[in-house]
Amino acid sequence: MPADIAESQPLLEVIDLYTHFDTPRGVAHAVDGISFTLDRGRTLGVVGESGSGKSVLSRTIIDILSHDGSVLYRGKVMFEGRDLRELSQKEMREVRGREIAMVFQDPMSSLNPVKRIGKQITEVLVKRMGMNKASANLRAAELIDSVGIPDPEQQLKRYPMHLSGGMRQRVAIAIALAGEPKLLIADEPTTALDVTIQAQILDLLRKQQRERNMAVILITHNLGIVSGYTDDVAVMYAGKIVERCETQELMNRPRMPYTEALMKSAPLLSDPPHTRLDAIPGLPPNLLNVPDGCRFHERCRYATDRCLTELPDLTADGSSEHLYACWNPLEVKAEALS
Ligand SMILES: Nc1ncnc2c1ncn2[C@@H]1O[C@H](COP(=O)(O)OP(=O)(O)OP(=O)(O)O)[C@@H](O)[C@H]1O
Ligand code: SF4
Ligand SMILES: [Mg+2]
Repeated sequence: MPADIAESQPLLEVIDLYTHFDTPRGVAHAVDGISFTLDRGRTLGVVGESGSGKSVLSRTIIDILSHDGSVLYRGKVMFEGRDLRELSQKEMREVRGREIAMVFQDPMSSLNPVKRIGKQITEVLVKRMGMNKASANLRAAELIDSVGIPDPEQQLKRYPMHLSGGMRQRVAIAIALAGEPKLLIADEPTTALDVTIQAQILDLLRKQQRERNMAVILITHNLGIVSGYTDDVAVMYAGKIVERCETQELMNRPRMPYTEALMKSAPLLSDPPHTRLDAIPGLPPNLLNVPDGCRFHERCRYATDRCLTELPDLTADGSSEHLYACWNPLEVKAEALS
């Protein structure tokens, strides 16, 4: 592919993606018609309450859901112009880890407890990058150093159980970076960690993302994290993206009542301690039986009759790139426009 075409094309283009699970109790609409693009070097935050479909979306992108027939897919996942859903399992394994890597909430899910850390990293370098043993050893030490683990030579000899949760997550990030991916998907990478360690890991991800011009999808239920660490945000609710725009724009003038409710329920990094938070009343809908109309209507204080029957599309706010799916969007406050 000519370099100029490759540069102008989005790195990732998700087009009308559906992931449904055929369960004994009915079909769960976990991801239900999602589209977005992600350019090289950008960080997209995906935010929403538990069960909104964030992890299923990321697992669908890198195709690690079961292939037992209970998962029903539709739509396209274009990565550098190739439809990942058309690739064979073998081709997809090569994309995974090399071009797209993933970091999970629990670092132990990607670490082998009975193998030394050094071995786990060098194996990736030999297998995925075709390095010889000696170069892989040197590179592993560099990687461990770059993720902020002190005394790399000694650490490489240790087993995961000898490390703290934060250090394990750093190792998992080093392994993810070993294949020099163009896209890193981090699914709640700091949720299991103490607050101070959370900030360190997020700073580390941002540093690596900038140095490598790597695109990142950062999945979180916390808008505070999104506001400090992402360029763009997609807000998910019950399997759909309900608002999408640049992060600053979202924080300054949310248009979707669900986003407003999320903001009031999550502490921002800039909030003073003990700021009062309002939990969102009610629960998200059962994905086996989603309501007609706007899926947020049972919990929305702005709902009108139309919201009960007609599902709003995700559409642009005038000529801007601020997309939201709401019949009664929030007014833009005058100070947000100045
Ligand atoms: N294998 C499966 N079979 C049936 N339903 C599933 C399966 N995996 C996920 N789901 C359902 O899909 C929905 C979305 O789940 P998902 O894990 O993506 O949510 P999430 O937004 O990542 O939540 P959390 O913040 O708790 O991680 C949930 O209702 C979940 O029960
Ligand atoms: S469409 Fe209606 S119910 Fe849905 S968020 Fe907007 S106002 Fe609320
Ligand atoms: Mg999840």
